[in-house]
Amino acid sequence: MLGPPARAGPIERSTFGAVTAQAIMTAKPLSDARILLIVGGGVAAYKSLELIRRLRERGAIVRVVMTEAARQFIAPLSAAALSGHAVRSDLFSLIEEAEMGHIELSREADLVVVAPATADLLAKMAHGLANDLASATLLATDKRVLVAPAMNVRMWLHPATRRNVAVLGGDGVLFVGPDEGEMACGEFGPGRMAEPPAIVAAIERALGEPTAIPLPPGLGARPEGALAGLRVVVTSGPTYEPIDPVRFLGNRSSGLQGRAIAQAARAAGARVTLISGPVALADPAGVEVVHVETARQMHAAALAALPADVFVAAAAVADWRVGAVGAQKLKRGAAGAPVLSLVENPDILADIATRRAGRPALVVGFAAETERVVENARDKLERKGCDLIVANSVAESEGTFGGLDNQVAIVSATGVEPWPRMSKQEVARGLIEVIARMMKGRT
Ligand code: C5P
Repeated sequence: MLGPPARAGPIERSTFGAVTAQAIMTAKPLSDARILLIVGGGVAAYKSLELIRRLRERGAIVRVVMTEAARQFIAPLSAAALSGHAVRSDLFSLIEEAEMGHIELSREADLVVVAPATADLLAKMAHGLANDLASATLLATDKRVLVAPAMNVRMWLHPATRRNVAVLGGDGVLFVGPDEGEMACGEFGPGRMAEPPAIVAAIERALGEPTAIPLPPGLGARPEGALAGLRVVVTSGPTYEPIDPVRFLGNRSSGLQGRAIAQAARAAGARVTLISGPVALADPAGVEVVHVETARQMHAAALAALPADVFVAAAAVADWRVGAVGAQKLKRGAAGAPVLSLVENPDILADIATRRAGRPALVVGFAAETERVVENARDKLERKGCDLIVANSVAESEGTFGGLDNQVAIVSATGVEPWPRMSKQEVARGLIEVIARMMKGRT
């Protein structure tokens, strides 16, 4: 394991609005992202220390591998202190390998970053050499690799490096930099390593890309966890229904609960697609995220994400949309206030739960009610045709929408199980346990 996930800080629970804003602010942009940083031997290695600091500040978990040459430029102890984990260099250290083998090291990460990537490391990568820990890890990884090259301008422009860069680009390796400027060796041109903020931005972009380099089916690591090998689709957040080009009908859903469910499903070994309405949250690592705005877009994205084994509808979908959306911004006028006529949106949950062909084995809905919570949930279970309803009260006094906690009852055909108030992460983990138990009975 790369270490425990970062926890959000404490939240001030004053008013509805304040909780929403606080909750969003505490979700760090790289929370839970696991970065394996490989530091090559170049003058720019000192900048990798700042990179580690910036990544940790943004909530990432960072493990560091240094090449032998890198150890000539920066002290492993500095990287260990900043990352909070021992630094690894030696492929043949029995102690280090026993703690975490190089294969595990390369698979446990969400993204592998090479900074600085020297001409030598790029050449090894392009040719598949694996004679030290850094290169062996790069060859063994099934994750995206982002490199930040740093070398003398002539080395960067040498035909051999040009060839290697082209090969790596073709292999799906991502690049950030190099920048142009004065070099430590006194020459001028492209070859300076990108600055840490630019590398952090590239890391954030890279985490949004599909991570794994696919292997033919049946090969590679056996997935582990209660939902290993299953496909889970989660809808989350609000939908925005346009009134005109600048206004919309929306709701107060923050997307925190749906995001937590997607993360818990992923932690249980599932392949997860999160279909999210507009939220102010960073995309969770290791999950395919589809961003949508309207209910109809969410519906189309949900259908496109099938087939799936489990479908969880946690989104607060607008029941209605404006029938005739203004092509121009509506203006005040003599005619008085405009009258909006609404038409019904597709019911995504009911549609997927009642499909004859390709219905997911387990369909889970939410019932956000302001009154008679359990009765309404029971009714919804039948009406929508789903297997499980997570019933929660969203009365304003509860602070559920936008809050960090939730108090739910799990309603199924066999009964009702009220859960105590707990964090949305805990609700998500509990729900995934229930789903895993039910899936065992079905597969
Ligand atoms: O009928 P109601 O909106 O209360 O049902 C809530 C449940 O149905 C939630 O799981 C929500 O995600 C889902 N839903 C949906 N599409 C809609 C409305 C609700 O998937 N148009």
